[in-house]
Amino acid sequence: MRKLIISFTILVLYFSQVAAYYVPERSVIYQIMVDRFYDRNPTNNEPFYDPEKKNYRLYWGGDIEGIIERLDYIESLGVSMIWLSPLNDNINRMAGGSAPYHGYWPRDFKRIDEHFGTWEDFRRLVEEAKKRGICIIVDYVPNHSNPATDGEFGALYDNGTLVTNYYEDRKNATRNPYTASLENIYHHNGNINDWFGFQLKYANLFGLADFNQMNDFVDNYLKEGAALFVKNGACGFRIDAVKHIELGWLETFYLYLYQISDEPLFIYGEYFANTPDKTFDLYEFYRYSNVSSLLNIPIRESIARTFAYGGSFEQLAKMLEEYYSLFVYPNKQLNFLDSHDLVRFLNMNPNKDRYHMALGLVMTLPGIPVIYYGDESYLVSKEGKGDPYNRPMMVFDNSTKAAEIIRKLSLLRKVNDALAYSDFRTVYVDYNTWIFERKFGSHKILVALNKGPDKNITISLNWTDGTYIDIIEGAILKVKEGQGEIKLPRYSFYVFHVEEEQKTPLIGSITPYIAQPGQKILIAGAGLNGNIKVYIGGRRARIIEKEENSILVEVPEIKTMNAWIPVWVVVNGTRSNEVKLRYYSSNDIPALIVLQGNYTGYLWVKGNIPELSEPRPLLKSPTGHYFAVVPLPRNKTFTVQLYKGLPWEPLQPTNVTLYGIGNKTVILNEAAPETPVCGPGIVAVFALLPLLKRKKKKSPNTTITPYGVPIVAVSWIVRWCL
Ligand code: NOJ
Ligand code: CA
Repeated sequence: MRKLIISFTILVLYFSQVAAYYVPERSVIYQIMVDRFYDRNPTNNEPFYDPEKKNYRLYWGGDIEGIIERLDYIESLGVSMIWLSPLNDNINRMAGGSAPYHGYWPRDFKRIDEHFGTWEDFRRLVEEAKKRGICIIVDYVPNHSNPATDGEFGALYDNGTLVTNYYEDRKNATRNPYTASLENIYHHNGNINDWFGFQLKYANLFGLADFNQMNDFVDNYLKEGAALFVKNGACGFRIDAVKHIELGWLETFYLYLYQISDEPLFIYGEYFANTPDKTFDLYEFYRYSNVSSLLNIPIRESIARTFAYGGSFEQLAKMLEEYYSLFVYPNKQLNFLDSHDLVRFLNMNPNKDRYHMALGLVMTLPGIPVIYYGDESYLVSKEGKGDPYNRPMMVFDNSTKAAEIIRKLSLLRKVNDALAYSDFRTVYVDYNTWIFERKFGSHKILVALNKGPDKNITISLNWTDGTYIDIIEGAILKVKEGQGEIKLPRYSFYVFHVEEEQKTPLIGSITPYIAQPGQKILIAGAGLNGNIKVYIGGRRARIIEKEENSILVEVPEIKTMNAWIPVWVVVNGTRSNEVKLRYYSSNDIPALIVLQGNYTGYLWVKGNIPELSEPRPLLKSPTGHYFAVVPLPRNKTFTVQLYKGLPWEPLQPTNVTLYGIGNKTVILNEAAPETPVCGPGIVAVFALLPLLKRKKKKSPNTTITPYGVPIVAVSWIVRWCL
């Protein structure tokens, strides 16, 4: 009965807060490999179909219609976003003994694969999901098309029209004089084999034809392909293999999508880094996370190992604290236990008690939880462990304890601000027991785990005296005079929570957290109801729409040289906390910046425009040029300072200042750029100056010409024009 009352209370709270826009931190994502979920339309199963579902490298029949059919089931888990494996049309041949049932070998980014359905099916899925408070996120693969030396040999189509294939493309490939990349539509620099620097981004990943995103056709094509999903109702993207794409191009890609979308999109990337060690990889991971969320791949292994095989909670807690402290937005990163690329937990250790604890932890740490299809039904394959055996046919069962954990924590996330927005603090930890607290304004949670023998534990806890009931099992936490008492049996996982009214305004989330002027962003948090003013970079922002504890606003134009600008709100005269927005000038193009001259070591540039104000590392080409792809406002003059150093060390400034002007290729020069010659527009203004009216208000230091025009302005224009 008590459990029923708790679930009911949460449901009431939830339904009173259902909003039109999705706040990612409030959501739990359900990840589906489309081919392996549910076959609703057997007419689209061929070719390469295995009706017996024994060959893991063939199609097994799942389709978009199947997902629509199973939406009620998905809804029953309480999740509010679905991430679908890539839907784009894939090659129609086998390659390396496998069919592209997984979707990661696309050939046409404007079409849906015939095995999965049509654009109409996709729209219907979006609509039906929306009725259930769920939105659709699509996996998108802008790094590559399909295998270069097998299958369809990198064949690429533009809405059905053949563009090229890897061998045809090679015939007209040219070598970029600065990056030394041989390129056309694709890069032709062999396969990645040293997994470092230039090769990571300019060579083929596992033999997959690697796009040259700096080619104008490719740049537009990939943006248009993704735009089709936005226009057909997707609420976000999981971007495949971002490790292998120039970040500067991705930034323009994201900004383009944010700009064209009516709703704030949620985009996150897959950067494969196995550990949270402070290596180059983790540095790059962290850097990417400052412009787009990422899956928390580096911490998954340690979490899974600690629960599946054993290990110390002390070490895990310390490692996670350090890891989360790296991010500007830790709650915008994504936690998961299982995925299509890693061995499922239950294939590592079939002990369900341990599994429940690990699942619960992933859903209560800072970050958005991702549930891999079948996590709720203990899905594992008997034939093997990793890829492709981590992709068995779905078994539907939402009556399990795992499903209950997912459901309860999904619902709690919708109403508890601490679970959605706060950082975390360890209250108690030893080898087998871990208790941590999360607080956001007047909301709190306390998570307790014990993988060792039964334990009664007393902790210091600054909660109001009383008895608190855990949402998972109905266990009890008694608090008196700053001391909390909990009984923790072996394999217990408890979540105690408090939701009280938040009276003063607090921002917990902005989506997206990168923006250019005119773009919409969603500000969400607590205490955001009443008379509201929003400030971005110190300027008042236009409010487009206001909902319970969330505000959709338009980003104004800000004069700044900084990458991050402050955002705050004032509610009924009270000012909120300040959060950060990563700001870009406007309509940036992906530009190749190149250093001329003899330099050595690890080099970085940091400049006087927002796009360059965070230090950016330069790659070194095989011909010795240093370069990077960065987003730049076209035609804008800028300067950069050159720095030296290793990523995790403080960077050392050199005495070198370099100049550039925003263009597709920018050669950074030590000499200031030539003063531009006066264009016709400027000449016209100059000629009209005498006709301009004298300004009424004089500024104290300005001399007025006989024509009523400030001399300073005239002399400035004369200087600029000659
Ligand atoms: C990462 C995906 O998660 C994986 O499944 C895929 O094979 C590679 N990227 C290549 O697209
Ligand atoms: Ca089918």
